[in-house]
Amino acid sequence: THRSKVTVIGSGNWGSVAAKLIASNTLRLRFFHDEVRMWVYEETLPSGEKLTDVINRTNENVKYLPGIKLGQNVVADPDLENAVRDSNMLVFVTPHQFVEGICKRLVRKIREDAEAISLVKGMEVKMEGPCMISTLISQQLGINCSVLMGANIANEIAVEKFSEATVGYRNNREVAERWVQLFYTPYFIVTAAQDVEGVELCGTLKNVVAIAAGFVDGLEMGNNTKAAIMRLGLREMKAFSKMLFPSVKDSTFFESCGVADLITTCLGGRNRKVAEAYARNGGKRSFDELEAEMLQGQKLQGVSTASEVYEVLSHRGWLELFPLFSTVHEICSGLLPPSAIVEYSEKLPRSF
Ligand code: NAD
Ligand code: 13P
Repeated sequence: THRSKVTVIGSGNWGSVAAKLIASNTLRLRFFHDEVRMWVYEETLPSGEKLTDVINRTNENVKYLPGIKLGQNVVADPDLENAVRDSNMLVFVTPHQFVEGICKRLVRKIREDAEAISLVKGMEVKMEGPCMISTLISQQLGINCSVLMGANIANEIAVEKFSEATVGYRNNREVAERWVQLFYTPYFIVTAAQDVEGVELCGTLKNVVAIAAGFVDGLEMGNNTKAAIMRLGLREMKAFSKMLFPSVKDSTFFESCGVADLITTCLGGRNRKVAEAYARNGGKRSFDELEAEMLQGQKLQGVSTASEVYEVLSHRGWLELFPLFSTVHEICSGLLPPSAIVEYSEKLPRSF
């Protein structure tokens, strides 16, 4: 058959919701194969059972998305090679630190006609400079990679509350349309923008601003301060994106992946939540410790992204142009106290 077959690579909080969205569409639309494979990073639950077995028995990811049926056509598979073997549509959705290792294992194991999309928010910094996750996937596997980012707190979409998302694509509109069809539902409105770098940088950089917003919450500084941090953060997101990729469009910041994702993450995200606890503890308990305790296996992206952004800024001599981004990293690494988040304002360049 010529039906497209989909594999979701990842099965965390958002990965599981992505599988649910996709599975409702592959059943409905004839040009997709009904079955959706979902690769699971295998683990043993306290009950002694394997997570994969429990997902396939109960149709729920009991650890990362409890209480939500994924759809009977979702098949969990702990074997990465087996999970991608027959698929031509690969959906990457793991924490960003694991993507490179996964890609290395997939070299020469995927179909030649495969296309990828990344839902991963983050970047890698190489000797040659910054590398977006979609570029990493593209380069390692020799395939095209689009992105999907948006104001998408997974637990809210899991219970089918209305939201929007943006597909970022490079040059093939038809490929983008196919990804839109795979994700689109009446409660999940997806639009396409021809600006892969812009869409992906929005999703990546807003996690750094969310850490700053969490500090403001932990210090109980109120809504005006938090709004100011969000505004300054958005300015830095735009400036950084355009300095790295001059092709990035202004309009992208007004899509769901831009200002909307920034707002939802600063109000209700995990990065915000753990950063609030960090500030409440006066920086005395590490992010790693708080993440393990508060998120039960889910992962933060903002702390490592702040460090990756800082590396880019210092290599290029741009640190003083990005006081918010650099201060977030200096607080996370213990060089400055959380209160420094609003003390950098005299360092702001005039253009801000
Ligand atoms: P998560 O935070 O729930 O992460 C846990 C996942 O990582 C689990 O599936 C776990 O098995 C897996 N894992 C742990 N160690 C691993 C290893 N060594 N190798 C491979 N996998 C390993 O994951 P998530 O919420 O699905 O997030 C994935 C990406 O999606 C992130 O970049 C995140 O920023 C982004 N995102 C998340 C949300 C959300 O609300 N959760 C929304 C939009 C985007
Ligand atoms: P957190 O990882 O901070 O929860 O953000 C989720 C997200 O990316 C919402 O779009």
